Amino acid sequence: MRSLRDIQQSHLPQVEAEMVRFITEHTSHETLKESMLYSIQAGGKRLRPLMLLAAVASFGKEITDGAYQIAAALEMVHTYSLIHDDLPAMDNDDLRRGKPTNHVAFGEAMAILAGDGLLTEAFHLMSLAQVDASPKILLLQQFSKLAGTSGMVAGQAADIQAEGQQLSIDEIAQIHQHKTGDLIAFAFVSGTVLAEQPEEVLLSVERFARQLGLAFQIRDDLLDATATTEELGKNTQRDQELAKSTYPALLGIDGARQALTQTLAAAQHEIDQLQTAVDFHPQLFAEFIEKFRL
Ligand code: IPE
Ligand code: IPE
Ligand code: MG
Ligand code: MG
Ligand code: MG
Repeated sequence: MRSLRDIQQSHLPQVEAEMVRFITEHTSHETLKESMLYSIQAGGKRLRPLMLLAAVASFGKEITDGAYQIAAALEMVHTYSLIHDDLPAMDNDDLRRGKPTNHVAFGEAMAILAGDGLLTEAFHLMSLAQVDASPKILLLQQFSKLAGTSGMVAGQAADIQAEGQQLSIDEIAQIHQHKTGDLIAFAFVSGTVLAEQPEEVLLSVERFARQLGLAFQIRDDLLDATATTEELGKNTQRDQELAKSTYPALLGIDGARQALTQTLAAAQHEIDQLQTAVDFHPQLFAEFIEKFRL
């Protein structure tokens, strides 16, 4: 079975190319196009496309052009969420992916529109993807739900409203599940849909992805508190400055580290449950767990 590095090297370039091709072909306004491509091409770890493609491969299936297109759409929505997350009215950040944020480079109005463009064109791309009609409709429904107003957008709303509030750990986990967990759930579940897995496998993969998604945000918040701007390519100590409701804020650094370890153990437990699925290779899922340790 391939490693994440293999997938990164052999398959992520096709996702990159698909995003650039689609945006270039479908954007008629030059500055808008430049602004969209600026954030897309600023780098980023491409974790969500990697998760999607890893899910396809974990069930012994070939990674198709359709999978590249779904992965590209997902990364476009993720990138829009970052552009809007950084806006002055939201987290008010000036550094992202090691570069000035979109609104610093292009102005606030163009940054809002670049986000609007990436969001809309992601659905356009997904609707045109080379995937059979029936799974494609399912993917579009799941993507709308998980990216939208009971998913990532709802999580972002809750995150903003929770600034300066004293929340319980369960309430914070709930916010993380939506603002971060939902797109990560889509990454793994959509890959599993593309691998033509039955309902019970989809549910099991979603449970794994949700533990991993929660772990990812706990880790992001720990890094905000402990890493350097150079390491992250974004400004640090922002959560404290904005009085965000986070695990480190409520539990302290050590408490949050413990919660991260426990959440990753819960993700491992879900992988163990998946071992009964036909032709499932757990290595790539397990690699994500290792990747997210601190
Ligand atoms: C940052 O996501 C936003 C969160 C959900 C914490 P990533 O850490 O995946 O950001 P990029 O895509 O690598 O820039
Ligand atoms: C962002 O969470 C989640 C989304 C963009 C949906 P954060 O606000 O913690 O992400 P960073 O730290 O700015 O990347
Ligand atoms: Mg935020
Ligand atoms: Mg932010
Ligand atoms: Mg953060």
